[in-house]
Amino acid sequence: MTLDFEGRVAIITGAGHGLGRSYALELARRGAKVLVNDLGGDPMGQGADAAAANKVVEEIKAMGGDAISNLGSVADFENGMEMVRQCMDRWGRLDIVICNAGILRDKAFHNITEEDWDIIFDVHVKGTYNVLHHAWPVFRQQGYGRVVMTSSSSGIWGNFGQANYGAAKTAMLGLMNVLKQEGLKYNINVNTLMPVAGTRLTATVMKPEMVEAMKPEYVTPAVVYMASEDCEDSGLLIEAGAGNFNRAAVVKGPGIRPGLGDPKSVEWVQENWAQITSLEDAPAMWNGRQTVEEFLKERAQAKSQE
Ligand SMILES: NC(=O)c1ccc[n+]([C@@H]2O[C@H](COP(=O)([O-])OP(=O)(O)OC[C@H]3O[C@@H](n4cnc5c(N)ncnc54)[C@H](O)[C@@H]3O)[C@@H](O)[C@H]2O)c1
Repeated sequence: MTLDFEGRVAIITGAGHGLGRSYALELARRGAKVLVNDLGGDPMGQGADAAAANKVVEEIKAMGGDAISNLGSVADFENGMEMVRQCMDRWGRLDIVICNAGILRDKAFHNITEEDWDIIFDVHVKGTYNVLHHAWPVFRQQGYGRVVMTSSSSGIWGNFGQANYGAAKTAMLGLMNVLKQEGLKYNINVNTLMPVAGTRLTATVMKPEMVEAMKPEYVTPAVVYMASEDCEDSGLLIEAGAGNFNRAAVVKGPGIRPGLGDPKSVEWVQENWAQITSLEDAPAMWNGRQTVEEFLKERAQAKSQE
């Protein structure tokens, strides 16, 4: 069955180049109306250029689609509101937000300046909040919304020289884990992507032949599916790109539960470290409460057997 986005309205941030551009074109090809946001700066977050977003809007119009541009920064709170307002004024609804805009300031940790730290958090973390905060009331009122946020293996698994970026990208998991719960009764699904693709961003660290081979189009199907009504999952972290699609998760090991009794000593922890750190049969969790509920359930079971 072909996935159709007729009547759907999408905001895609950072859609003037790379991955975002590819998502915008594919969603538009499938009938979605698209707001193409892009500040048009360089990969380090310097400068601005209207050409990036406007060119993608022209490409969409050339194939018979409907698109508008937003040339502001995702880091600007007012501009987050403006993107949502533009969609509501023009199309009267908003169904999809893909938080994709991103920059890099790679340096070994001891060389990361306060400015390098702040700009990465402003674009990736605050930038995601700025758009979603204004989209959320529209989603709640409609009883429908699809969000795809963009994380990175740089933080999920860790990459040398990307402390600021890795930390900011991993913040997406915390935000998703809360929003998946707050959105549940309004049919708002929030998922997160961990992409791998050759783009101008990765051209700073990848060989040219790798950039050429790992096209954004290898990532796009996962994002477009997660942005669709058919995808009923929420709270998933999906890694996609370079000919690969998989789920990743923060899981919880079986551990060891000595119960409350007398508090254990440091030496007891040392002796049992292998069991405490084991990840055998480790499930992903739906929420933080689940952890406490499990402890309480086991305690109640133990008591009933006394
Ligand atoms: N390419 C990869 O392998 C990879 C891996 C992990 C994560 N990511 C993430 O994927 C996303 C897309 O990256 P890409 O590889 O396509 O890079 P890209 O540089 O090709 O595209 C990023 C776009 O974001 C725009 N942008 C940057 N700052 C902005 C701001 N403040 N406001 C609005 N737009 C802004 C840029 O102008 C650019 O068009 C980013 O969030 C990036 O961190 C990419």
